[in-house]
Amino acid sequence: MPNRDISAAAIKSGLTTRFLGQNIIYYPLVTSTMEAARAEAHKAAADGTVIIAGEQTSGRGRLQRRWISPGGNIALSIILYPDIAGLPYLIMIAALAASRSIESTTGLETQIKWPNDILIKGKKVAGILIENEVKGDRVARSVIGIGINAGLLPDKVSEIASIATSLEAELGKNVSRENIIVNLLTGFERLYLNLPDGEPIFKAWRDKLVTLGQKVTATWGKDTLHGIAESVDKSGALTVRLSDGTLTRVVAGDVTLHEK
Ligand code: BTN
Repeated sequence: MPNRDISAAAIKSGLTTRFLGQNIIYYPLVTSTMEAARAEAHKAAADGTVIIAGEQTSGRGRLQRRWISPGGNIALSIILYPDIAGLPYLIMIAALAASRSIESTTGLETQIKWPNDILIKGKKVAGILIENEVKGDRVARSVIGIGINAGLLPDKVSEIASIATSLEAELGKNVSRENIIVNLLTGFERLYLNLPDGEPIFKAWRDKLVTLGQKVTATWGKDTLHGIAESVDKSGALTVRLSDGTLTRVVAGDVTLHEK
């Protein structure tokens, strides 16, 4: 049986970040790192505290979905106290940092599907969930949850077998989760320290999106629309051109890509 624990000490010794990951809290088993991070933030955890789980029993995905998070994967949440102007860029920073950490550690090529799914050859390898608490014009806390399918074997999980992949499934061998986390936190901090200038972050995220120019079905709440994904803006919203030529802005939701 492989060792499924992640070594927080190995991550700390590999990190040269200024503040991100300088405080790491590791749980071998937890309900969700989002819950654990929220509790830590309420106790005024240091900016850049990272909660890492070996395994989550109630992992949460976007849009109230479940996130399957067995041992062998990467599940972490970052606590930040950003300026309100930086909020829209957190999605972009997290998606870029996750995608780049996978690419630099494994050599695999990734793409970002709007708004922040990380794909390998069209299948989802990582997802991001951001929960902010805003009071007036101040961000009380921001929790950025990142889940990467590292050791998960998608064929063994029927619910996601056709849509998900993992680093191990792609590489045919396991990969150091500590190295991925070090690269992820390093890249995240480098991008984050660029703020308040979000322009280069926005451009890099936009250029990595597989969604633009594609025929899509966009869903948000109970609404669905079909069209061509035309552009994104700095708030992170997607603009879709419908068949009658009109444009619709999708602020939060999900898209399915279709062959043109
Ligand atoms: C999605 O694509 O729907 C987002 C998935 C986010 C999963 C991560 S794993 C770490 C953190 N804890 C959770 O319960 N969810 C996020």
